[in-house]
This record gives sequence, C-alpha cells and structure tokens, in this order.
Amino acid sequence: MISSVRADAFVPSGGKSVRVEVRKATMRDIAPILRLINGYAARGIMLARTEFEMSEAIRDFSVATLDGELLGCGALHFYSPTIAEIRSLAVYEHAKTHGVGRKLVEALVVEAEQYELHAVFAFTYVDEFFRRVGFEVVERGALPLKAWKDCVRCPKFQQCDEIAVLRILRPDDWADAQPHPWGAAMITPTDELIQIPTPRT
Ligand SMILES: CC(C)(COP(=O)(O)OP(=O)(O)OC[C@H]1O[C@@H](n2cnc3c(N)ncnc32)[C@H](O)[C@@H]1OP(=O)(O)O)[C@@H](O)C(=O)NCCC(=O)NCCS
Repeated sequence: MISSVRADAFVPSGGKSVRVEVRKATMRDIAPILRLINGYAARGIMLARTEFEMSEAIRDFSVATLDGELLGCGALHFYSPTIAEIRSLAVYEHAKTHGVGRKLVEALVVEAEQYELHAVFAFTYVDEFFRRVGFEVVERGALPLKAWKDCVRCPKFQQCDEIAVLRILRPDDWADAQPHPWGAAMITPTDELIQIPTPRT
C-alpha cells in the first residue's frame, strides 16, 4: 500500500487548530463513506454508490478524520498509465470550509505523483473549489472517453452540466504526449460507442 498515513494536518478553524488526519481508507470506512456520498446523491450533487461498488473501489479511497470521526473522502481512479480521475470527493456539511477538501485533494495529488502520473482530472459542479486547489477548467473532449463510462447511469446524463477540470503534474511529459495524453491504447472500439454528454444550453 502506498503511504498509509500521509498527513498530520493542522487546519485552522475559527482561530483554533484542529488535527485532521488524511489516510488511505479501509473496509471499516465503507459505511461512513456511503452515508456521506449517498447523502449528497439524494440531493442530486453526487452519483450514488453501493456497498458492492465501494468494496471493489476501496483501494482508490482516502479519508480525512478527526479524532477517529470521518469528515470527508476522495478517490483516485486510474484510467491509464498517465492519467487518473479524482472522484467521490465529499466533506460532511458540518466540516466544510475548514480546509478538509483541500487536504484530501493534496493527498490524492501526492498519491498520483507517487504513481508518476502526468495529470489528474475531475468532473464537478464546484469548479471554483478545484481552481482554488490548483486545477484549471478544460474542454470535456480533452479527457479520455473511458472517463464517461459512469455517465450512462447518471440521472443527468442527457442534461449534464458538470465541468471538466485538470491539474497537470508533469508539464513536459503531458505536452509531449498530446494529443492523446492517456495513451492510444485507451481508444478501443468500445470506447468509441460511449457518447460524450453535451452541456445543457
Ligand atoms: C467541494 C467540497 C469537497 C469542498 O470541501 P471543503 O472542505 O469545504 O473545501 P476547503 O475548505 O478545503 O476549501 C478550499 C478552498 O476552496 C474554496 N471553496 C470550497 N468550497 C467551495 C465552493 N463550493 N465554491 C467555491 N469555492 C469553494 C474555499 O473557500 C477554499 O478557498 P481558499 O483556501 O482559497 O480560501 C465540499 O464542499 C463538498 O463535499 N461538497 C459536496 C460534494 C461535492 O460537490 N463534491 C465534489 C464532487 S467532484
């Protein structure tokens, strides 16, 4: 496992300092992660997850905790040897705006760097948050088609208004690999059948 405990984060909160730890998730985190993600999913903010999906993907996840209580989660999902998606990023309502989201993203970026990825991306409604943590807004077409495979089960598939954001980690490698930074091997006949949702007008 790469970096099981990655940060002893001291996050300023109303003049006080609180100790937030960011670490890789374990099976025991699945229940609180599901409560968090599916709470937002019920409000149409995130895609719902099942216990089965979480068990399959748990190695993608990192969690932020305070005194053992889960405050937030985020996942790094690989698409190719060079690019991954930051997904399932969420912070409990009561813990928002205290830097927990930033800590999670930074931990996922460190993980991506350990794997020598060239870039990480996300699809989001909170592009301003991602700008603040070092991402730029990009055209959806700049991202691998496989990244859209979850879209077909999204209730907003036909009227998608998510914004694509990208953080380049290795600018030289990224530039050299254009126009297919994720590698030609990603483009398969199956990929070609995935229809990229267009923004709502
Ligand atoms: C988006 C989310 C993860 C941010 O977590 P957070 O812990 O509140 O964020 P932070 O406190 O670390 O904020 C980091 C920076 O982003 C800014 N920011 C946070 N949320 C923002 C928002 N919704 N809109 C604009 N800026 C935002 C903060 O002001 C802060 O800026 P600064 O450091 O330059 O002052 C959290 O609001 C959340 O869980 N939202 C619901 C789920 C969701 O939309 N997830 C994204 C899926 S891709």
